[in-house]
Amino acid sequence: MTAPRLTICDDQDTLAAQAADFVIDRAREAVKQRGQFTWVLTGGQTPEGMYQLLAESSRRDAMPWSRTYVFMSDERFVPYSDPRSNFGMARRALLAKVPILAAHLFPMPTDGPTPAAAARYADRLADFFSEDTARRRPPCFDLILLGLGEDGHTASLFPGAAALRVEDAWATWSPSGTLPPSVDRITLTFPVLNAARQVAFLVAGEKKAAAVRDVLEGRTDVADRPAAGVRPHDGVLTWFLDEDAARLLSRQFSP
Ligand code: 6PG
Repeated sequence: MTAPRLTICDDQDTLAAQAADFVIDRAREAVKQRGQFTWVLTGGQTPEGMYQLLAESSRRDAMPWSRTYVFMSDERFVPYSDPRSNFGMARRALLAKVPILAAHLFPMPTDGPTPAAAARYADRLADFFSEDTARRRPPCFDLILLGLGEDGHTASLFPGAAALRVEDAWATWSPSGTLPPSVDRITLTFPVLNAARQVAFLVAGEKKAAAVRDVLEGRTDVADRPAAGVRPHDGVLTWFLDEDAARLLSRQFSP
């Protein structure tokens, strides 16, 4: 894996704007090269501002929505109408405001037993990418967005969780971590995250600074800070940080 690219922004609003423009560039590039843009959204609060910017006219009109396909990095096991739902947040902030076909949206199922729902999602990915999950060659998404918890989790891959060791499935059940909301989750697994062409972390706030430092400066292991396990094999890894989240980085990392 090549060294991660860092974009350190003055504040969270600037991070949202720079990340939104990054998404547009990746989308247009993917459509030009392959005719479609397969995009994994993440949940939590950090990306919401960026989603809202992408729904505003100038950026909205720059996105190739008719060629864009949207998936989720992870989901809380609640109805999409629940304020804790990651897909529900993305739909409110962005997807309901842009001309994307419903058939291009692939939310994670949260209406059945969680392990089976994870397997159903993996099957949906296999259908879309016309791969056979038995081949274990994970889907190659054009862009996966990720957040970072202050404990170093990403998606719903929590410290010490069994999900960190899943190599033979593309999505898996993940019991709630130590941070709220304490609900069961479904999450994409490391094989999928690391098969992507582009992965971008969006991280803001001083509470994340220690986890950012540990992951970027290699001071940790995957069990303790799961985000350290995101090392795209051939893809490009980019971190969008605000000043607060970057404040503990040593000089070598602060461009
Ligand atoms: C989730 C997210 C999770 C999130 C981090 C950061 O379901 O909780 O996918 O991985 O990205 O917890 O969340 P904030 O952006 O709210 O700090």
